[in-house]
Amino acid sequence: LLKVTEFISANDLAALLDVSVNQIISTCMSLGMFVSINQRLDAEAITIIADEFGYDVEFTKSIEDEIVEEVEDDPEDLVERAPIVTIMGHVDHGKTSLLDYIRTSKVTADEAGGITQHIGAYDVTTKTGHKIAFLDTPGHEAFTAMRARGAKITDVAIIVIAADDSIMPQTKEAINHAQVAGVPMIFAINKIDKPNANPNKIKEELANMNLLIEEWGGKYQSQELSAKTGEGVDDLLEKVLLEAEVLELKANPDKNAVGTVIEASLDKGRGYVTTIMVQSGTLNIGDITLAGKHYGRVKAMFDHKGKKLKTAGPSTPVQLLGLSGAPQAGDIIKVYDTEREAREIANSREQIQREQSLRTKKHITLDEIGRRL
Ligand code: GTP
Ligand code: MG
Repeated sequence: LLKVTEFISANDLAALLDVSVNQIISTCMSLGMFVSINQRLDAEAITIIADEFGYDVEFTKSIEDEIVEEVEDDPEDLVERAPIVTIMGHVDHGKTSLLDYIRTSKVTADEAGGITQHIGAYDVTTKTGHKIAFLDTPGHEAFTAMRARGAKITDVAIIVIAADDSIMPQTKEAINHAQVAGVPMIFAINKIDKPNANPNKIKEELANMNLLIEEWGGKYQSQELSAKTGEGVDDLLEKVLLEAEVLELKANPDKNAVGTVIEASLDKGRGYVTTIMVQSGTLNIGDITLAGKHYGRVKAMFDHKGKKLKTAGPSTPVQLLGLSGAPQAGDIIKVYDTEREAREIANSREQIQREQSLRTKKHITLDEIGRRL
């Protein structure tokens, strides 16, 4: 039995399994998963890999989970918040196109080869005046962990399925992530403008997976649509809002912000740019934030259109400047009252990481000795 926390790196998993990281990588490759040394693995990948090496897995709480554990909010402080909706599905089934249509601007046109490679975060106000925060995830098979993370911070999942295709491996994976995360799903049967579209075939395939849609007497909402012509998109949004209403989503905006890192990168000239989803509390310019082992005061914030923001409340995706480095996607970001507090936690995380990498190093040396003997 292997006790492990989710999202450990391939390197750390190798150390725990007492094998070399190369063995992990080649095992993954033979299973059709491409992982790099420092890549964090989701629960599914960890389970599969451990199984290959003869281990059962038990997931334990991470230090992160414990630090982040929240004090319960007083119900009186809670106010309604917008739903966070993640769009998932197989590669090329039209996730980004659907979002492009919803926000009436083109992302697909900027994507190299039209393949989404990272999570995009957008804030949308619908024609009916409702706010929805969207996460666009990549469908390519290499991005399992990203999809798992997307599913984790989401309230509702839209599973996009192309009506001229079938339920594909990453469709199944996306459904699985949503189910594991306990997130309600809405099936968006896309590309119905195509002459060879066959939405009924998709509905049948869903039924065969025990996912019976409402129209057929089941419990899952679905919507036929075209991201190209826009047909059915408004109806889909209505269904999203309906699903969200049932969830009675609330957050306390009057406290230090807590959110999740969506992505981070170094921008020449601007420094580290971190995209986060604020989940509760309100983030302000000047707040002392900590994510992973990086901390700093928020120097500036922008929405996805590049517009400057002074504050960001619950369910708002923002890009922020001011962290000392690039945290990992999936890291929790929190605001602290003093810089000292943030620094101390950052340092202890740094130390844990150093210890882990020492363990791995030691392991490689032993392995090399083994090979020489
Ligand atoms: P990944 O992010 O790489 O997984 O792909 P995606 O699901 O975001 O697909 P994307 O939106 O990039 O669309 C893939 C292709 O399908 C593009 O050429 C789109 O123009 C086309 N497409 C998407 N939706 C529709 C639709 O409703 N009708 C038609 N005819 N084409 C569509
Ligand atoms: Mg895309």
